[in-house]
Amino acid sequence: MPQTKTPDPALMAAAAEIRPRAYAPYSGFAVGAALRGADGQIYQGVNVENAAYPQGTCAEAGAISAMIAAGCHEILEVAVIADSPVPVAPCGGCRQKLREFSKDEVLITMATTRGTSQAILSMADILPGAFVKSAME
Ligand code: THU
Repeated sequence: MPQTKTPDPALMAAAAEIRPRAYAPYSGFAVGAALRGADGQIYQGVNVENAAYPQGTCAEAGAISAMIAAGCHEILEVAVIADSPVPVAPCGGCRQKLREFSKDEVLITMATTRGTSQAILSMADILPGAFVKSAME
């Protein structure tokens, strides 16, 4: 799909800024995420791991919690960054969590601290056939 928007560098900077606060003693893989809400604000999150491994949460989930706690319910853009050889793709669970608050056209940029990035314009591209609340109407 052709890109009609370009990634906001301030959003990726916010994801990179928060990344060192990740709590990732088990994987050693610190992730930073930032969302631009429809209110214009930036919401940041980091992964928070747990000794009971499945209880850990992803950076995207933390950023979504910050946005919802601030009273904003719509995501306009997403940035995720980690120190990885390839750009970090949001996990399946996070794709579903992001979809809850995103229209289809949402720019999702994944980057590495090593300098590469990849941008995807559409939620449908990363979560085709998503289960959405309209399915329950
Ligand atoms: N992780 C994220 O926070 N976001 C992603 O998009 C991928 C994975 C975290 C979960 C776990 O703490 C660590 O990275 C290794 O999987």
